[in-house]
Amino acid sequence: MTKPARRQNDETRPEILISPSILASNFVDLANELRSIESADLIHVDVMDGHFVPNLTIGPPVIEAIKKVATRPLDVHLMIERPELSLAAYIKAGADILGVHAEACPHLHGTLGQIRAIARDQGRTVRTCAVLNPSTPAEVLEYVLDGVDQILVMTVNPGFGGQSFIPAVLPKIEKLRGWIERRGLAIDIEVDGGIGMKNIALAASAGANVFVAGTAVFEQQDRKRTIDDLRRAGREAYVAGALERAKGR
Ligand code: DX5
Ligand code: ZN
Repeated sequence: MTKPARRQNDETRPEILISPSILASNFVDLANELRSIESADLIHVDVMDGHFVPNLTIGPPVIEAIKKVATRPLDVHLMIERPELSLAAYIKAGADILGVHAEACPHLHGTLGQIRAIARDQGRTVRTCAVLNPSTPAEVLEYVLDGVDQILVMTVNPGFGGQSFIPAVLPKIEKLRGWIERRGLAIDIEVDGGIGMKNIALAASAGANVFVAGTAVFEQQDRKRTIDDLRRAGREAYVAGALERAKGR
């Protein structure tokens, strides 16, 4: 199995990472907005094509510009049809984590392999991420886990920031974390959509360890404090959830 690029403490205690989504930032002041989230672990970049989702955002040229000033890895979430046609452009632009939707990839195993192959050719280290819409079952990933460094479980229907968290997806996170722990894999589980202080503990105790937060971070003046609070709440709940799962085994 290809080892993930980032080391983790051990399989059951992965790092807790906060990934602010710049979709909620002020795009005309992006350089300052990026500076305001320098204490985050990742920068979440939402790419929407107006087809896979109704909204339209940014593509490789803007990501390349962000990469030049970013001090954190870029966590690029592709909400586009036929992502296999433009993987090379997103990797060249600077994606450090590259997420493709399972619903947009009839040959998901192949597409994930393509990400690793293109990264290798470009001399880059890119973590692969498979993304699941709320209605997509965990089982679509059952046979491709070896090709995945991160799983993004959508907690809203993708397309827009500022939507409400869908608690019905929590059992899917639990199921995926259970598979990962039982198989001794080092796969991150990311959640995206409506995440904030009110619900981060729910997602973390179910087994998520990477948290996208758009509105919850950018609506606050003190972003460093918000990021710290989210990370602390996520860590506490993740550890409590891991202990509960260990007891149940
Ligand atoms: C939704 C995007 C999210 C969005 C999250 O399609 O994938 O990353 O920006 O924004 P909030 O945290 O405001 O729900
Ligand atoms: Zn996203």
